[in-house]
Amino acid sequence: MQVAETVAHARAFFDVLPRPLGYVPTMGALHAGHLALVRAARDECTSVAASLFVNPLQFGPNEDLAKYPRDPEGDREKLAAAGVDVLFAPDAAAMYPPGFSTFVDAGSIGARYEGAVRPEHFRGVTTVVTKLLHVVQPDVLYLGQKDAQQTAVLRRMVRDLDFPVRIAIVPTIRESDGLAMSSRNAYLSAEQRAAAPSLQKALVAIRDALADGATKTQALAIGRGALHPLAALDYLDVVDAATFEPVERPNSPAFIVGAARFGTTRLLDNLYVE
Ligand code: PAJ
Repeated sequence: MQVAETVAHARAFFDVLPRPLGYVPTMGALHAGHLALVRAARDECTSVAASLFVNPLQFGPNEDLAKYPRDPEGDREKLAAAGVDVLFAPDAAAMYPPGFSTFVDAGSIGARYEGAVRPEHFRGVTTVVTKLLHVVQPDVLYLGQKDAQQTAVLRRMVRDLDFPVRIAIVPTIRESDGLAMSSRNAYLSAEQRAAAPSLQKALVAIRDALADGATKTQALAIGRGALHPLAALDYLDVVDAATFEPVERPNSPAFIVGAARFGTTRLLDNLYVE
């Protein structure tokens, strides 16, 4: 695996990789969820690129940027073993030179749910992914369904701004008790870790209640009831899969989405409903 730490080096590597090129952007602290994206890229593409960059722009002033889990050596080993050809691992100065002042705004699709709780978050994601796509110039961008709203925001951005890339979505990888794998799970105490799978249980309860004919109000109440008392709920809702607008019933492809805090750790999850 070749590693590039500057844009110029990365471009030199990416220019000569055989096509099609699949690309997996990450913020590191890699787990089996990230590696499922690499595996999908390896299966479907001739060359595979990954990036490792904890993007300061997508963290709010009171969020966990400084303590976000980091394991650059372990991550490199995992990516090399998974068959990544080129890793782009810039530092913040390489991505945001002095005077950096141009941003990509996600608009209303990025203003609800995660965007309501984290106002600058999606602007940071769309801006960094724009830069990363310009550096890597992949044929296929691999994203996880785990972050369903991020996926919807990036699909919209790629469509609206005519990025010449196809997006492939990889299903959420879970622990054996149903908890969606996340780099942030490492923050949980044993007690919080035991309570955390109740977020997925709440989503499943909502899905089942809707399938049994409950109204959305009834189903969401059942979902709230399935949450562990340690969970402080941010939101539970049913949304259109493409627009992330709330819907009364999942008549077309939809996500049941949820976010809750366990202590200071915020976890998100979703279920796709056809
Ligand atoms: P990060 O949280 O590191 O996630 C990188 C990719 O891995 C995302 O596409 C995410 O949806 C996917 N992923 C995370 N957990 C997963 C799981 N349990 N199963 C399947 N896929 C999973 O998302 C980001 O980084 C950043 O916002 C980024 C897109 C890199 C821009 O900075």
